[in-house]
Amino acid sequence: MKTAILLPLLHALSLLSEAAAYSNHDETWALGNGYSLQRSAEKILIADQKDVIWSAALPFLSASAGQDQISGTSGAFNITKVDEAICQEQDISSISKTQWDEAVNGAAVQLAGSLLDCGDEDMTYIATFWVPEDLSDRIAFDIKVSSGSSGRTYQRVYLTFDSNADEDIYGLGAQASFASLKGQDVPVFTREQGVGRGDMPVTQYENANGTFAGGNRFTTYTSIPSYVSTDSNGFYLSLDSTALTFLDFTKSDTTTVRYGALNFRGALFRASNMFEAVERLTAYTGRMPALPSWVDEGAVLGVQGGQRKVSNIVQEGLDLECPIAAVWLQDWSGTHAQEGPYINVSRLWWNWENDEVLYPEWPAFVQGLRSQHGVRTLSYINTFLANVSTKPDGFRRNLYAEADRLHYTVQNTTTNSTAIISSGPGLDAGIIDLTNPGLRSWFGEVMRSQVWNFANISGFMSDFGEYTPVTPDTSLYNTSDALFFHNSYPYLWAQYQRQLVESLDLQDEALLFHRSASMNSNRYMNLFWVGDQNVDWGLNDGIKSVVTIMTHMGLSGYSQQHSDIGGYTTVLTYSGFNITRSPELLGRWGELAAVSSAVFRSHEGNIPEVNAQFYSNAGTYGYYAYNARMFVSLAPYRRKILETECATRGWPLLRPPVMYHTDDAEARKINYQSFYLGPSLYVAPVLDPHTFELEVYLPGRCEFTHVWTGMRYHGGQRVRVGTPYGKPAVFLVGGNEMPELESFLQFVKRENGTSIDVA
Ligand SMILES: *[C@@H]1O[C@H](CO)[C@@H](O)[C@H](O)[C@H]1NC(C)=O
Ligand SMILES: *[C@@H]1O[C@H](CO)[C@@H](O)[C@H](O)[C@H]1NC(C)=O
Ligand SMILES: *[C@@H]1O[C@H](CO)[C@@H](O)[C@H](O)[C@H]1NC(C)=O
Ligand SMILES: *[C@@H]1O[C@H](CO)[C@@H](O)[C@H](O)[C@H]1NC(C)=O
Ligand SMILES: *[C@@H]1O[C@H](CO)[C@@H](O)[C@H](O)[C@H]1NC(C)=O
Ligand SMILES: *[C@@H]1O[C@H](CO)[C@@H](O)[C@H](O)[C@H]1NC(C)=O
Ligand SMILES: *[C@@H]1O[C@H](CO)[C@@H](O)[C@H](O)[C@H]1NC(C)=O
Ligand SMILES: *[C@@H]1O[C@H](CO)[C@@H](O)[C@H](O)[C@H]1NC(C)=O
Ligand SMILES: *[C@@H]1O[C@H](CO)[C@@H](O)[C@H](O)[C@H]1NC(C)=O
Ligand SMILES: *[C@@H]1O[C@H](CO)[C@@H](O)[C@H](O)[C@H]1NC(C)=O
Repeated sequence: MKTAILLPLLHALSLLSEAAAYSNHDETWALGNGYSLQRSAEKILIADQKDVIWSAALPFLSASAGQDQISGTSGAFNITKVDEAICQEQDISSISKTQWDEAVNGAAVQLAGSLLDCGDEDMTYIATFWVPEDLSDRIAFDIKVSSGSSGRTYQRVYLTFDSNADEDIYGLGAQASFASLKGQDVPVFTREQGVGRGDMPVTQYENANGTFAGGNRFTTYTSIPSYVSTDSNGFYLSLDSTALTFLDFTKSDTTTVRYGALNFRGALFRASNMFEAVERLTAYTGRMPALPSWVDEGAVLGVQGGQRKVSNIVQEGLDLECPIAAVWLQDWSGTHAQEGPYINVSRLWWNWENDEVLYPEWPAFVQGLRSQHGVRTLSYINTFLANVSTKPDGFRRNLYAEADRLHYTVQNTTTNSTAIISSGPGLDAGIIDLTNPGLRSWFGEVMRSQVWNFANISGFMSDFGEYTPVTPDTSLYNTSDALFFHNSYPYLWAQYQRQLVESLDLQDEALLFHRSASMNSNRYMNLFWVGDQNVDWGLNDGIKSVVTIMTHMGLSGYSQQHSDIGGYTTVLTYSGFNITRSPELLGRWGELAAVSSAVFRSHEGNIPEVNAQFYSNAGTYGYYAYNARMFVSLAPYRRKILETECATRGWPLLRPPVMYHTDDAEARKINYQSFYLGPSLYVAPVLDPHTFELEVYLPGRCEFTHVWTGMRYHGGQRVRVGTPYGKPAVFLVGGNEMPELESFLQFVKRENGTSIDVA
């Protein structure tokens, strides 16, 4: 072991303070508000007045060199870790109290020392712990590691602390493949989630050509460095700690944070249950702003194809007693054919003005739907601008050309111009650079004059956020480190759009739904959508992943979520398989949306003509209308929960059984099979084809009443219930019947005899 090198500054600090010499074992330093830091022989402990709430054995800090390999195009980043010259030992040369303005008592406890056996040099560190003045129910930390003067460049820090072997972990954003994340090494990096993500054979097919288009079980639009556990522990990195991070839960008795820079901050706490843990987490991250009340009124019809088609589908729906809150017209800015197997795929023109062939009377058309039918209109916006110079329908402004000239896009220093994102042949685009104040005001003017004030729309899909390149030739206006910046983009995007909505005083009207998010984005979006699923029943990327993602997002502080009813990604191949949407999948997905989501919205998918659509025929529209009515019947109940528990405590609407039953081993294993919707309903959706009976695990000890039959069951067993089309397994929980459930119970009574067929 090499000798520690002490910084002169640390000497000075420890002399001035009430420091204990490092040889003084078993000492305690008060952190404030009843918390203390203790040193015992080989451990650092943090305790509240009763218990040790966090502990770490030496060495709990390490560092390494080596550049991670990150390759990929079009938002599909393939990351391979490179860890070289990892420090093997750590010493503590001093523990001392130091003045700290952010702390509840103006003081923090600081550990200083060295990281040793690192290969060719030693490193020094300072680890500071304090109780934040504004959030005094937790311990914040700041870790700083400094490289020695010679040798290699150290890239990252590891922080390792104790975990129970049977502590299960939830959160970390939009995680689609696991119930608990214990046992997994979870990357925190926003990117395309991939097509398949492990579901076969599509993943293998998509990944075969080296573009990583299929992804894996960890690729996600939204990864967030926060979690809560069954021991009621909470942990997060702070808003400005955005480097590429891995949260490694693969060891049974420790957790390791692998952070891609030498300085980071975060916080940890122990709550009394998982609900309180989410409440504490969201006290830091913020809570989602209120959903406009009109979303409760009915379905949001995802339709494309121009004014006449949209009007006809709305009229047909009203005739079929489909409650319609809005239409969502993503093709308002025009479409563009891209060659694919068998059929051309229609893509959007990312130039934010209405297409004059599809929607020639855009403002009048939008107002007409609203005035005549009470149907609102949502459109589509994303983080890109596409070069529309070859757009056959013409254009009024080429926003790409303007932004390119002004260098308002993320720049490529090799070409000295826009960093081009290629989204398939004929679709070259740039990413707007939200760190550039010039872009912010120019794009704000575009949003005001061409989007919000031009037509009476009520919001839009706010797409993308994951694509900022990370190569050294990437340049943004106010940052030189594109890799460090990468995870901030979704936050800046949501913040930017929300601030615009507020400046226009449209908070009570506007609905903006995002699929990418990063730390603290939730305070700037009133709806999350769980991304692009395949139009199939898959676990990692099909209908089942919707529930798993909602679970982990909910425990990351995202109360209000929904999905594309029917899924999005359609795959046609010459390799002997296709993924296309069946009417049955569309129907069951509608049931799922009705009993799980804050908003009921469908999508035609990326190749509409080979997918079943809700408007395909009277049968599909009838099933869709039925599901929309079921959704509307639950509105008073949902609204009550959103306005109380979600708004004030950050609790999710959809709750995994483990939240209520941390001691129930069965409940911990559930990822998509069942969930609570608020406190009073327990739901097992049908997520497999031809499934007319479901075995449902009822957790805990209270009584469950199956709404369709009135049968009562005790918790702690598996029961079989019938699940014909239109009747997902829904149970009332205990005697906990809220009056707001009355309209749902009436729906059940009224529709109990309805029989739905799927062609
Ligand atoms: C690889 O596959 C993806 C997904 O199918 C496709 O978008 C991409 O164009 C393919 N790339 C090549 C080089 O074939
Ligand atoms: C991802 O990168 C690793 C390391 O370069 C490589 O072995 C692997 O094949 C890549 N994965 C895909 C799907 O391209
Ligand atoms: C598909 O699109 C390409 C251009 O992207 C076009 O040349 C071709 O005619 C289209 N094919 C069909 C069947 O529409
Ligand atoms: C939008 O339409 C509603 C309902 O017709 C109307 O009350 C409102 O004034 C319109 N807003 C604008 C900005 O035109
Ligand atoms: C846009 O595309 C056209 C046609 O390919 C090209 O001539 C033009 O240079 C592009 N504009 C910019 C700003 O790249
Ligand atoms: C980009 O600009 C740099 C600095 O102004 C210059 O050295 C380089 O030659 C330029 N590269 C190209 C491709 O224009
Ligand atoms: C910049 O352009 C070069 C040459 O086309 C390309 O190889 C590189 O990937 C681009 N980098 C970025 C960040 O767009
Ligand atoms: C860069 O710009 C963003 C967006 O305005 C801002 O949040 C961030 O603090 C800025 N960073 C620096 C280093 O100025
Ligand atoms: C895939 O879809 C195409 C286009 O609809 C069809 O021609 C082809 O037969 C399908 N392949 C399989 C294996 O079903
Ligand atoms: C629904 O119908 C079944 C079969 O007729 C009946 O047993 C059950 O009580 C009904 N449920 C409700 C809530 O009316």
